[in-house]
Amino acid sequence: MATLTELKADTLNTQEFIKEKAAEIAATVGDGVAINALSGGVDSSAVTMLGHKALGSRLKTYFIDNGIMRENEPQQIVDIFKNLGVKVEIIDAKDKFFAAMKGIEDPEQKREAVTQTFYKDVFGELVKSSGAKYLLQGTILTDVDETVAGIKRQHNVFEQLGIDPQEAFGYKIIEPLVQLRKDGVRKVAAAAGLPESIFNRMPFPGPALAARVIGDVTPEKIAIVRKATSVTESMLASRGAFQCMAILHKDRVTGMRDGQRDFGLQIEIRCWDSVDARRATPTQLSWDVLNDLSARIIKDVPGVVSVTYNIASKPPSTMEAV
Ligand code: XMP
Repeated sequence: MATLTELKADTLNTQEFIKEKAAEIAATVGDGVAINALSGGVDSSAVTMLGHKALGSRLKTYFIDNGIMRENEPQQIVDIFKNLGVKVEIIDAKDKFFAAMKGIEDPEQKREAVTQTFYKDVFGELVKSSGAKYLLQGTILTDVDETVAGIKRQHNVFEQLGIDPQEAFGYKIIEPLVQLRKDGVRKVAAAAGLPESIFNRMPFPGPALAARVIGDVTPEKIAIVRKATSVTESMLASRGAFQCMAILHKDRVTGMRDGQRDFGLQIEIRCWDSVDARRATPTQLSWDVLNDLSARIIKDVPGVVSVTYNIASKPPSTMEAV
């Protein structure tokens, strides 16, 4: 396995990088077809732009609706890319993902279920039907580092774990961003013409809201954490944090509602200051902000009786809870 050389954001020549990577993709794919999955995150969005620059309509871009994305996310992303002249097809795979995650409590097994469903079941099918031999994806250096270090299995890392995607899934993977960290990808995304809502978009993990449900994942729990996420993002978006999130805990706690005991849900809020996600500290939110957030979550998210704010840094915490 070759060692990857990091390309630092501050010295990166984005136009050169885009030209080089587009040429590499074009040379690798030849006159064939490639496919990629767009999640709307800055990594997959940058890859989509590089791929379309290299291959035009020979890159088929899909948004996989896995049922664990945020509110209205699939349509919003498809519309943004439509405005850029890039056609994106939504694939409804909700049932497959929920079936694969059913009853799984362990964080790494949960991640593995999302990975296998994504790459084998859903993508495997798409590759077959599209005739593509290549999958373009937005793996970045931090994904590789953390996976290889055994901290957290990022869902998109294979080669560095000794997995041959050709053998495992039947197609090759091209990773044009693998020498960059998040700050470098944002520069490339801006230079590639993506709007600020994308190039400055908060990171969101591959296992999506499943990474924010502790314990087994069900459509009902996802609906709760989706609503809490929407409230949290809308109230904290203007704080300039690297990332903010709501997590649904597995344990219930005693609360009271309308004079009655209510053994209710706990939501944990995390809001992070970070440059590249390798280290992070909790954002110092004011008491007023925390109070308003708690009140809105309790009002808008059914069944919640406890809202907490995480004050531990990474390390030893990680940013996501799962
Ligand atoms: P952790 O939780 O490892 O998160 O401290 C660091 C950053 O990576 C994001 N993250 C992921 N991104 N696939 C991704 O593409 C994943 O499986 C994944 N897990 C975590 C996380 O949101 C944070 O920005």
